[in-house]
Amino acid sequence: MTDNEQKRTDLPAHRPESGLSVRGKLSPAKDVISDLKCRELIRTAAGMMKYSYVPYSHFHVGAALMTKAGKIYTGCNIENSSYGATNCAERTAFFKAVSEGEREFLAIAIVGGPEGRIEDFCPPCGICRQVMAEFCDLDNFFVILSRSEEDYWVYPLSEILPMAFTPADLGK
Ligand code: THU
Repeated sequence: MTDNEQKRTDLPAHRPESGLSVRGKLSPAKDVISDLKCRELIRTAAGMMKYSYVPYSHFHVGAALMTKAGKIYTGCNIENSSYGATNCAERTAFFKAVSEGEREFLAIAIVGGPEGRIEDFCPPCGICRQVMAEFCDLDNFFVILSRSEEDYWVYPLSEILPMAFTPADLGK
């Protein structure tokens, strides 16, 4: 088994020394997002996997995005026969929220797996991280990766998208 084939049973292995990400109840974000909220977001994200349109990959992903005001927007991945037009669950949630006038976000939970089975953590793709960076403060937006309500990690966006190109780089 190569490193790439190994399951992410040991997420801390690629946790940077900064130690910003922490597990579950020990979240550094606990003052802004409680364990209870994290669990609610994970549950909501998992519930979205049944709506995934995934005839090509059969890999279901669900997302639950919470605004600073506490409202939750959901998303699932929606594939396309062109492949390139596929939309990830995270971007579905963001675009739904932004199209409803939301601009202030606190956290997103992401859950996914083959045939809808949650077997491992499902980190967001690079394009989705970039979309998050467009609307979120890198240090104050949290990405929740989970295998279950009890087994989750919380990452500040700054940690999983280092040296990001953001609206600030265009003077915005
Ligand atoms: N996918 C997501 O929806 N979110 C992610 O974070 C990773 C990948 C989707 C895209 C595609 O439909 C399937 O998972 C396999 O790549």
